[in-house]
This record gives sequence, structure tokens and C-alpha cells, in this order.
Amino acid sequence: MNDKKTTTLIRAARRAWRRSYAPYSRFPVGAAVLGKNGRIYSGANVENASYGLTVCAERVAIFKAITAGEKELVALAIFTTTKDPVPPCGACLQVLGEFARNPLVILASPGKTQKWRLKDLLPFVFKFNKEANPAAPGR
Ligand code: THU
Repeated sequence: MNDKKTTTLIRAARRAWRRSYAPYSRFPVGAAVLGKNGRIYSGANVENASYGLTVCAERVAIFKAITAGEKELVALAIFTTTKDPVPPCGACLQVLGEFARNPLVILASPGKTQKWRLKDLLPFVFKFNKEANPAAPGR
């Protein structure tokens, strides 16, 4: 992915960061994903008084993309205002792995950018298989 696309995706994550609802942790996170055909979808974390119901920024962005009709994602960017960039949580990496082969995962904080591949952060993604769920229809 070229530098211009990378910058655009980080910018979308940073813009989404402003819409975070994080009154409990006070840790706003912004995220953006790039669909195979070039469209960008962004999201921010949304917390809840019942803490466990919180949804991470990455999953908000991914679910927006999928429910807009995207079938495959090629990159995800996460933005936080921490000194160093932070990686997405394991749950979000697993969800990303459902819709992407080995996407680029861009971690960004002010003035710092790191580029990883999903495989570097989560070497094994759990995939549907008949042994795990024999009753489920094949895909
Ligand atoms: N959070 C995210 O949005 N993405 C991550 O990858 C890690 C954590 C949010 C969840 C919660 O609202 C806050 O950060 C603190 O955990």
C-alpha cells in the first residue's frame, strides 16, 4: 500500500477518534478499515455503563464495512493519542481475520506509525471448520 493510501487511512482513524464514547476508561480509540475496492470505513470505541458491553473502535469500523456490503478488507488503521502506538486487542484481530487474508495493520499515534501484517500480530486465526462445528453448513 502506498504512502498516500496509508496517510488517508490514518487520517480517517484520527477523525473517527473524535467520536469515541469513552467516559469510563477515558481512553478514546479511532479505527479505519480499507475495503478491497478502495472504500474506507471508520469507527470509534463505544463504552457502556455495563462495562463488558463496550465495543472496540476496530470492530465498529469492521462491522460498518461488512454491513455496507464489503466482502474483503485489505488494511486496518488504529489511532490513539498515546506516546507509542498501540495494537488492536486480540478479539478485534480475530474479527479482522474473518474478512481479510493477511491485511496490513497500521498502528498510529501522534508522529509515530508502525506497519504490521495480521499474521505478525495473530499468527493463528481461528477459522470455521467442520470438526469445530459439524452441524454448521459449509461455506
Ligand atoms: N479499545 C479499543 O477500542 N480498541 C482496542 O484495540 C483496545 C481497547 C477500547 C475499549 C475501551 O473502550 C477502551 O479502549 C479501554 O480499554
